Amino acid sequence: MDSLPSGKSRWTLCSLLCLCLLSAGLLLCSRPSFPAPRPWEHFSRVQVQQAATSSSSPHPSAAAAYHDHRLAVPPAPAPDTSSSDLAEEEEMATGSAPAPAPGPASAWDGEEEEKCEAWDGEWVQDPAGYPLYEAAECPFLSDQVTCRRNGRPDSGYEQWRWQPNGCGRGGSRRRRRFDAGVAALEQCRGRRLVFVGDSLNRNMWESLACILYTAVPDRSRTRIDDVSSEYRIFRAMDYNCSVEFFWNPFLVKLETKQDRTRALKLDQLPAMLQQVIGADVLVFNTGHWWTHTGKLRAWDHLERNGVHVKMDGEEAFNRALRTWARWVDHNVDPTRTRVFFRSVSPEHKSSNWCYSQTSPITNGTVVPWFPKSLISIVETNIQSMSTHVTYLNITHLSELRIDAHPSVYTTNREGKPLTMEQRHQPIIYADCSHWCLPGLPDTWNVLLLASLMRSPADVHLVRKDK
Ligand SMILES: *[C@@H]1O[C@H](CO)[C@@H](O)[C@H](O)[C@H]1NC(C)=O
Ligand SMILES: *[C@@H]1O[C@H](CO)[C@@H](O)[C@H](O)[C@H]1NC(C)=O
Ligand SMILES: *[C@@H]1O[C@H](CO)[C@@H](O)[C@H](O)[C@H]1NC(C)=O
Repeated sequence: MDSLPSGKSRWTLCSLLCLCLLSAGLLLCSRPSFPAPRPWEHFSRVQVQQAATSSSSPHPSAAAAYHDHRLAVPPAPAPDTSSSDLAEEEEMATGSAPAPAPGPASAWDGEEEEKCEAWDGEWVQDPAGYPLYEAAECPFLSDQVTCRRNGRPDSGYEQWRWQPNGCGRGGSRRRRRFDAGVAALEQCRGRRLVFVGDSLNRNMWESLACILYTAVPDRSRTRIDDVSSEYRIFRAMDYNCSVEFFWNPFLVKLETKQDRTRALKLDQLPAMLQQVIGADVLVFNTGHWWTHTGKLRAWDHLERNGVHVKMDGEEAFNRALRTWARWVDHNVDPTRTRVFFRSVSPEHKSSNWCYSQTSPITNGTVVPWFPKSLISIVETNIQSMSTHVTYLNITHLSELRIDAHPSVYTTNREGKPLTMEQRHQPIIYADCSHWCLPGLPDTWNVLLLASLMRSPADVHLVRKDK
């Protein structure tokens, strides 16, 4: 089974992907999964003004404040400007007066390749293309994932580009990072994009909001609405573009009863999901919360038809996904809405620990963390749907990014950056689950936007039964 079609359509998708990949960049940040429902961390409220004026100098003091000599790369007082070409790009990307856009479509069109596979490939260093934005330019980036602001001294993790196999090999021309943001804005024009899922989808939402925000010529014409603790919206008014995030970590409904017990209702979705019907793009995920056990488990019992049921985790997961799949098939109009499911985002714990890692895994030794059986359940359910769901198969490419987590450059439970003492207790505090921003989720969004350019029929999972 494959997420992409064979033959000609794959070929075209690949050339599109290559192009946009060339123009995109990455960074990282994050924090561990929460034991109890913990909808939103503190949302940092740096003034837009302040960010705009300080954009050329991303937190030199924070970078200098902590110097872990195990991380070989010294603190960078300013974005890498080793070549004049790069300095000029920086100017374009961060200047308050936006430079004329180099033509929105240019970031996406380009070379042709005979064959390429978006989800298989390698990470290549591309400091000219990545990061797509500077953390200091994006005022609403949450403290949890702004690794550099939290003192992470190295920045190489921000500069990797995903190079799919067979796509754009040899002689690819370098692309300006600003192009990626401009192209993303054009993709979002007149559209409503909605992410639904857990904090990893919030990570992805923040990334896209930053990519868009930093590309908007008049940043005063953007807004973040905190509709509730579980629902946030980024808007770019001049583009009639909105990107929303609904926190819903199991996809199905988690209900707290009057006696304070928590029921996970395997046959119901939260009512708030009605609000996303009619969006232009829906991006779902679930995964991590299903693996929590013991005290970390968010529910006390499972329910179907209003009665308690007992079943193992896999069966519960399967039933929940079936409920979700039926809901999509019955409620989403595929002529109006593109539906995506993002595959599991890997953690790097135990033998594959993210702590102190500064470069991606290149030798292919990846220790899968998430149960394969759960991944199969997701794929099987997607295949059984009548709606074409595009599977953003980012698990493997993310597994290689052991360097891209916040590790100890994150916040504690009070939403404050870890203290020096806490940083020296990585076993307790390191976050090897979320991702630094700018960082890896920027690439997920580049792949999402590239997939959007293709017909859903060309990229959905092959159906088993047809
Ligand atoms: C997802 O990608 C991995 C490699 O990156 C591949 O092995 C797997 O078959 C893909 N899954 C689907 C459903 O296409
Ligand atoms: C703005 O975008 C929404 C979709 O998000 C669309 O329904 C609406 O018609 C657009 N409005 C204008 C004025 O283009
Ligand atoms: C491959 O990577 C793993 C994990 O990063 C490392 O432990 C191992 O030594 C590496 N092997 C080679 C041959 O580089």
